[in-house]
Amino acid sequence: MSVYPTATNRLRIVEVQEVRRESPTVETFTFNDKLCAKAEPGQFVMVWIPGVDEIPISLSTITPNGLTSITVAQVGETTKALHQRKRGDVLGIRGPYGKGFTLASGNVMIVGGGTGLVPLMPLTDKLVKLATKITFLLGAKTKDELLFLDRVNQTLSKINAEIVATTEDGSYGLRGVVTDQAEQKLAKKRFDMIYACGPEQMMHKMFLLAEQYHTPFQASLERIMRCAMGLCGSCVIGKLRVCKDGPVLTSEQLRTVKDEFGRFKRDFQGRKTPIC
Ligand SMILES: Cc1cc2nc3c(=O)[nH]c(=O)nc-3n(C[C@H](O)[C@H](O)[C@H](O)COP(=O)(O)OP(=O)(O)OC[C@H]3O[C@@H](n4cnc5c(N)ncnc54)[C@H](O)[C@@H]3O)c2cc1C
Ligand code: FES
Repeated sequence: MSVYPTATNRLRIVEVQEVRRESPTVETFTFNDKLCAKAEPGQFVMVWIPGVDEIPISLSTITPNGLTSITVAQVGETTKALHQRKRGDVLGIRGPYGKGFTLASGNVMIVGGGTGLVPLMPLTDKLVKLATKITFLLGAKTKDELLFLDRVNQTLSKINAEIVATTEDGSYGLRGVVTDQAEQKLAKKRFDMIYACGPEQMMHKMFLLAEQYHTPFQASLERIMRCAMGLCGSCVIGKLRVCKDGPVLTSEQLRTVKDEFGRFKRDFQGRKTPIC
């Protein structure tokens, strides 16, 4: 949690230092921000694009000197406007918000799919100093959409690690989905913690596997966020507010919302809608 709660809520204007293309639809934007230097892996910022909207985005890089990045898929109006930002342009940010991942030691498994890999990157930066072994499973639909493969390889190069990439069309790594690989690993070995982020169906499957193999589990959830500070209720799942109790939720918390997790989300009117 930030030690500067008031400052955290204040909108800051930051200048884009660098834009890097990660895939045909995903770009990373680097900027400097002192409050983000104190963020926990898994926390997010609200990014304001003047005249368009303000959206929640996880931090993909956290450094002690404040050099920070966000990595964003172009999916709609706001992310399209963000992708038009170049080096030297400005963004509005507030945060970092929410509860991030709790760090574990021992034998850990990290499972990420698509842009779900974003919050797992600063987590991995921290875990390399604590874990005895990291099994990193990353997946995407196609090779083009597989994010951060070089960064994962580099970060894990000096420790005891296993990296498994999957693509649904078989264009890179193993053909199939990450959860199948996770299931095989869990059947063979005991893990001390599983971390997951990606499509909610994938995280739900990982939650069920973690329950089956009696393994502690943390997942970072997505819901519509407006205030990001626990006031408006737009991000609720059961009795939890994803912006404040999460976005990272533990198995204990997920058990309390098992009627909604993996099944329903709320739309902009607050109505429960099925997750397909
Ligand atoms: C905690 C958290 C972390 C996230 N981290 C990332 C990340 O690291 N990288 C990434 O690519 N995506 C991330 N997302 C998803 C990202 O916020 C949405 O993809 C984005 O808001 C879509 O906006 P859009 O206008 O481009 O798309 P559209 O689908 O066209 O959105 C339509 C409208 O809904 C609004 N909207 C859509 N989703 C949300 C939302 N979750 N909260 C508030 N408003 C929303 C948009 O501003 C727009 O007004 C995260 C979401 C959450 C909740
Ligand atoms: S976004 Fe307002 S309560 Fe969570």
